[in-house]
Amino acid sequence: MYNRPFEQIDKSEFLAKYWQKAPCFFKNAFEVPPSFLSADELAGLSLQEEIESRLVIQSGNNKPAAQNADAWSVEHGPFDNSRFANLPESHWTLLVQSVDTWVADTRKLLTDFNFIPRWRFDDVMVSYATDQGGVGPHADNYDVFLIQGSGERHWRVGAKGDTSEAKTVIQGMCHLDQFTSIIDIVMQPGDMLYIPPDTAHWGISIGESIGYSVGYRSIQTNQLLALITEKLAEKIDHQQFFTDAYRDTPNTSNYFEDQLVDWAQNELKQLANQPDVLADLLSKQMSLSKLGVYQNDNNFDINELNKDSTIQLDDEIGVNWHYLNDKIRLNIEGESFDFDLQYEKVVKKMASFSPISLTLFNFSPKMVDFPPVLTSLINRGYIKRVD
Ligand code: SIN
Ligand code: CO
Repeated sequence: MYNRPFEQIDKSEFLAKYWQKAPCFFKNAFEVPPSFLSADELAGLSLQEEIESRLVIQSGNNKPAAQNADAWSVEHGPFDNSRFANLPESHWTLLVQSVDTWVADTRKLLTDFNFIPRWRFDDVMVSYATDQGGVGPHADNYDVFLIQGSGERHWRVGAKGDTSEAKTVIQGMCHLDQFTSIIDIVMQPGDMLYIPPDTAHWGISIGESIGYSVGYRSIQTNQLLALITEKLAEKIDHQQFFTDAYRDTPNTSNYFEDQLVDWAQNELKQLANQPDVLADLLSKQMSLSKLGVYQNDNNFDINELNKDSTIQLDDEIGVNWHYLNDKIRLNIEGESFDFDLQYEKVVKKMASFSPISLTLFNFSPKMVDFPPVLTSLINRGYIKRVD
């Protein structure tokens, strides 16, 4: 029996053997299974406009969609109470995204995964399933830790990359027709499954059950290019036109010349050859939390702080940090805050959501001597008091 995940396998061993590479099952990962929400509370969230939710309903059996496409349907929220009054007894599941934004307690789950940096975190999704409910056999593009909250689910998981079997897309959901399981287990409360991207998985509820998914995101080339176009292109001060002064013979056949491609390659190389600019662009982007909805209002009077006070960055916030020239740059929700190097310890603690004792700062007779940048973080409401 284990108390917490990663007691049965060391985090470094997990990272080396499984992270992004292979699925892994953790029996009894949580001594106390997560129980942040009841089925009714989850349904309550799905009634709200700003909350992303979906219902996956099957009529009658659990065959993959290719064998029975008509049997699967997906509906997107927000739902009416009346929708829940008219659902069958079994074979459906309700999935609600970004529950970490709306139910602060669910963020407690993240402390068990804080060895994966926050800028990789996407959201906590919670699903409630009736007997035989599930979303069908599929693979995702992201890493996920599936944690069994209540009830049981039968999970089958394939090897990473073994997803080439035919796919059937039903209302945006991509079903795999079949796959070979390398994990085939019944998850019970407190059990956990890690599933890397591009890995087939299929969970079927045995009776009613609730599952929590801690999901991760990544960035794709097309997003990088969009970012460059949107955020970088307008800032480029050197705007070159292609020139063809090399032309010394007529080109009457409209032959497309290699020189234009050479020019394009060269321009792109110059753009890419600016690591500081790219670090700034990417770190800002990856500091945005999934919804960027900041709900807390941490208002306190700096003058009330004293040596015994403790402060902490609100764990709702998307954050990362990096060195930039002779400064430390802290990015919060797409905004940069630069600290002198002497505050390295403070920034590291802050960015890992650890409590910071104010003994780390000098005190004038009356008040704490913060660097102005920290004062502006406090004034923005990003910092909370924890004493
Ligand atoms: C579920 O919780 O039912 C589905 C989770 C997943 O497949 O990613
Ligand atoms: Co999935």
